[in-house]
Amino acid sequence: MLYIEDLVKCYGKFTAVDHLSLEVGEGEIFGFIGPNGAGKTTTMKIVATLLSPTSGNVLVDGIDVVENPVAVRGKIGYMPDFFGVYDNLKVTEYLDFYGSSYGIPSGERKEICKNLLKLVHLEGKEDIYVDTLSRGMKQRLCLARSLIHNPDLLILDEPASGMDPRARIEMMGILKQLKSMGKTIIISSHILHELTELCDVVGVIEDGRLVAHGSVDDIMARVKGRKALTIKMLGSVERAVNILKQQPVVHGVIAEGNTLELSYDCGDDELWKIIKVLVDEGIPVISFTKGENNLEKVFLEVTYGYEAK
Ligand SMILES: Nc1ncnc2c1ncn2[C@@H]1O[C@H](COP(=O)(O)OP(=O)(O)O)[C@@H](O)[C@H]1O
Ligand SMILES: [Mg+2]
Repeated sequence: MLYIEDLVKCYGKFTAVDHLSLEVGEGEIFGFIGPNGAGKTTTMKIVATLLSPTSGNVLVDGIDVVENPVAVRGKIGYMPDFFGVYDNLKVTEYLDFYGSSYGIPSGERKEICKNLLKLVHLEGKEDIYVDTLSRGMKQRLCLARSLIHNPDLLILDEPASGMDPRARIEMMGILKQLKSMGKTIIISSHILHELTELCDVVGVIEDGRLVAHGSVDDIMARVKGRKALTIKMLGSVERAVNILKQQPVVHGVIAEGNTLELSYDCGDDELWKIIKVLVDEGIPVISFTKGENNLEKVFLEVTYGYEAK
């Protein structure tokens, strides 16, 4: 459904997307994960025909986004990361406007809008002014708008960002429903666990490059069983890092100031040995805290092969 080959996008001398290739199959949900500034929005805007690539090929259902953007637009629904301001526009007027821009006959629009508002849990809000909706509602309305012409591929740029946990769960529920309707979805987030439940495949992007790509199950299997530990010490952490790296139960160490983040995979009956070896070596440990299973950090270590700096 989506095919990206060797995509490059430069803004002046700056390379925002750097030889990125990926494929998303029909009906698949692809999670695009990466920190802010990684190049997610740029990539998605190119797929959405809103930006032209510097080089590379992007095909949506076999159609080239550069050669035939109009045909591509009919197949995709794009939800941007930024929701504009819509003075004096009611919810139904807003959807109706987008419906007419897509050339949907006015006789059909009413029914489509009604169904979409139901899908995104906004029934009963038809006559509310868009600007007075809560952020979560606005984002759901924006999702409804991207669905108005019944596209096959949805490009959702951080659809759950800035939402409270409840609104987030609601959004994820709607996306699951779209998945069950057979839509192909590419969804970005800088939060991994937000996507693991929903997505079949995830790609991790950093500095414009795809640094990891695989099924959620594969990546979770690599992460499984690993736990996180935070150790603080006085002074330099360098020697502690070298000692810890030699411990077989320690998989990765990330140093930040005088704090170390560890991923390890032993039980509590062996955990004390980690602190003992540090203390025996004269490292001035001042705190030692077991993290909740900090999937984010462990994941970073697995995918990026993080080494202590
Ligand atoms: N119009 C632009 N002009 C110059 N640089 C840009 C522009 N848009 C984005 N960038 C830069 O490109 C990089 C990728 O941005 P973006 O695609 O928005 O990343 P993400 O969505 O992953 O946060 C960032 O370093 C950003 O500052
Ligand atoms: Mg972005």
